Amino acid sequence: MQGINKQDSSSSANMDAFWMPFTANSQFKSAPRMLVSAEGMYYTSEDKRQILDGTAGLWCCNAGHGRREISEAVAKQIHHLDFAPTFQMGHPVPFQFAEALAEIAPSGLSKVFFTNSGSESVDSALKIALAYQRCIGQGTRTRLIGRERGYHGVGFGGISVGGIVNNRKAFGSLLTGVDHLPHTLSIENSAFSKGLPDYDPGWAESLNNIVTLHDASNIAAVIVEPIAGSTGVIIPPKGYLKRLREICTQHGILLIFDEVITGFGRIGSPFAAQEFEVKPDMITSAKGLTNGAIPMGAVFVSDEIYQAMVAPDSQAIELFHGYTYSGHPVAAAAGLATLNIYRNENLYSRASDLSHYWEQAVHSLKGLPYVKDLRNYGLIAGIELEGIAGKPGSRAFQVFTQCFEKGALIRVTGDIIALSPPLIIEKHHIDDLFTLLADVLQNIDYKE
Ligand SMILES: Cc1ncc(COP(=O)(O)O)c(C=O)c1O
Repeated sequence: MQGINKQDSSSSANMDAFWMPFTANSQFKSAPRMLVSAEGMYYTSEDKRQILDGTAGLWCCNAGHGRREISEAVAKQIHHLDFAPTFQMGHPVPFQFAEALAEIAPSGLSKVFFTNSGSESVDSALKIALAYQRCIGQGTRTRLIGRERGYHGVGFGGISVGGIVNNRKAFGSLLTGVDHLPHTLSIENSAFSKGLPDYDPGWAESLNNIVTLHDASNIAAVIVEPIAGSTGVIIPPKGYLKRLREICTQHGILLIFDEVITGFGRIGSPFAAQEFEVKPDMITSAKGLTNGAIPMGAVFVSDEIYQAMVAPDSQAIELFHGYTYSGHPVAAAAGLATLNIYRNENLYSRASDLSHYWEQAVHSLKGLPYVKDLRNYGLIAGIELEGIAGKPGSRAFQVFTQCFEKGALIRVTGDIIALSPPLIIEKHHIDDLFTLLADVLQNIDYKE
């Protein structure tokens, strides 16, 4: 397989203007990795190689790429009604989409607030939590609780409750009144666990400590990812999410599940809330909502919150929040087509059907050089490598570039590889992905 260099790339001459997100721009632009088309489980690179998608783009394309049902729905909608406002006006598609979403949502979470991204979903949910507490006469409840190593997007709310230092440290004092629970990864005690780890020193109980410190009357909401993805896949220990729910309920604290990556079948149920049988008060989502085809996010809100805030006979605007594109007709049409695919192809349960095969493939990497931990659930895997002293992230990045050269797209964060393929993956793709990865891990000559 040939290597990629700047000369191979026909569009590399015009790369200066785009300031790429979460990217080492100079490094990328000196050796670009360009994807130009996609179909099913594969991207095609600019030098016409097939690249097996081990990451569903960026945890987005759960139904695989190039789905005609979605592009046709988008084309039809944009011709019919390109845009109409949803502030004091309406148009049919987001109402239909919200209704379809309510059908797959955990029961009691049947109200849907539309956004354009995961970050906006998170900031919307945090604002709804504060506004709700105030609305029910609990206006002193202003504190928000996140978790170490959490990723909740890049808005000021999201990075405040988030717990990834590089995403926070350059951006000032953030929101005030935020605390963090401890993360739930202990490689010393649960390395190479399959599925949910057993080890739990009582991590959820630290919420009780925060309650003791501040008093529950000052705490509005807790937000966690049921499975933390962007930090490098942290699987919750057995019973942890249920315990968090109990403590929140006991103290009148809202529980928000950030399901931007776990939503829409990634772990074997429509949502992690159903998979783990824990009902949060809100769920934030995006990505798989439209199969990544059109940007869109959604917050699922409990009936209780909606009913408390939306009085049946009121003439007043109850929530001074929303985006020009909340419920955009083209995005909503893409979403409706996406949900049809998920339902017709049984993709909500596919991760569960394949999880044992996936798990065996993931754990077949045990014993390869520098593999320090393997974690999995549904169609998610985390492969943690020993870092190179003084060069955090460098070892995994070398694996990432080698995999791309050999024909697979993986994702790395620090020295952790995160895998999350489209849910249409077949067993032979799983074999190909892990054979390629094992080959890279076995044979790579790391540049220290
Ligand atoms: C759990 C979680 N929340 C929020 C976000 C932010 O989503 P977006 O990049 O669409 O703003 C992400 C993105 O990866 C995520 O994984």
